[in-house]
Amino acid sequence: MTTAVLIVAAGTGTRAGGGVAKQWRPLAGKRVIDWTIAAFQEASVDLIMVVRDPDNPDAAQALAKHKDILLAKGGVDRSTSVRNGLIALDKMNVDKVLIHDAARPCVPAHLITEVLCALDTAPAAAPGLAVTDALWTGTAHEVTGTQDRSNLYAAQTPQAFHFDAILSAHLALDGPAADDVEVARKAGLSVRITQGDINNIKITRPEDFARAENILRSSMDSIPDIRLGNGYDVHRFGPGDQVTLCGIEVPHDRGLQGHSDADVGMHAVTDALYGAMAEGDIGRHFPPSDPQWKGAASEIFLRHAVDLALSKGFRISNVDCTLVCEFPKIGPHAEEMRSRMAEIMNMDRDRVSVKATTSERLGFTGRGEGIAALATATLVRA
Ligand code: CTP
Ligand code: MG
Repeated sequence: MTTAVLIVAAGTGTRAGGGVAKQWRPLAGKRVIDWTIAAFQEASVDLIMVVRDPDNPDAAQALAKHKDILLAKGGVDRSTSVRNGLIALDKMNVDKVLIHDAARPCVPAHLITEVLCALDTAPAAAPGLAVTDALWTGTAHEVTGTQDRSNLYAAQTPQAFHFDAILSAHLALDGPAADDVEVARKAGLSVRITQGDINNIKITRPEDFARAENILRSSMDSIPDIRLGNGYDVHRFGPGDQVTLCGIEVPHDRGLQGHSDADVGMHAVTDALYGAMAEGDIGRHFPPSDPQWKGAASEIFLRHAVDLALSKGFRISNVDCTLVCEFPKIGPHAEEMRSRMAEIMNMDRDRVSVKATTSERLGFTGRGEGIAALATATLVRA
């Protein structure tokens, strides 16, 4: 699954003035384009492509230090720049593409996550802000009418698409289009609206530089929203010849009893994630009274908790799980468990810990009546 972002930066920035096109100009200690690229370097994006005018020396200078990005050639208008970028990305096995204006350097991390998440259930998605001001029609000097705003949204980027669908839509485009949502809709794709952000401004006029600088500086000063959650679970031993722990089948002279596959470690981690979001526990989302969850693979529960966190704009910073039992011995399997858990949660392995302890033969775990698991999870929203 490859996700790319196409950052369109081939405009001349005429309305912003200032001689040098706005995307190459300084902003809060870097350049506009540096902020925009950095927002996607921190997101779950595999490829970054910048569409720029290859003959513009300001572009060459500003992009020289970015060794890990791909480049494409801009066109006469925004749609042509996007189309050139999409064609350059073709054959790179891209599944999902975000299309973003270089002139929106303040794009918040949660907005990128949310629009990408919406692509799991829609062919296209884009952030929109419901219009709150009253709207008039008018001449330059006089109000001529009032416009109903109840169905109106201000369009933002990044706009997200399944790659093949938006490439075909652009290749079939006849005439101008305001943005890629219009291109997609002309090709018959339905576009989901995700929540836009008032800080995701597009630098357009000279005064927008000061606004963008304020937004970036205040986000640098602000403390990220960090949530901790804990989870605890116990399953009783019963007849069987293996146990499933953190997604790995471990041979044992007993099995674990439970409604699902009784993966006590995965349940504790799942509950830690729900806990961090104050979203109850597994039982609330997958009631044991519902027969469809009998014998279910626990990764269904874990994936649900992970998707819920992403849809709320959180990144999972780390999880730590401790299994408590005398037998089976966990040590020989712990690394495999970490890898499996990291794979399910789509996290780096070094952010996932699985470890074990005995309880010195004390209590129910010590007597070998069952296995207990404790977990902690940290969620971060920038
Ligand atoms: N863009 C582009 N290729 C074009 C025109 C625009 O890649 N031929 C990009 C711009 O660089 C910008 C984004 O599309 O990041 C949004 O366009 P806009 O804000 O209109 O930027 P400009 O066209 O550069 O500005 P202006 O219209 O004021 O000249
Ligand atoms: Mg323009």
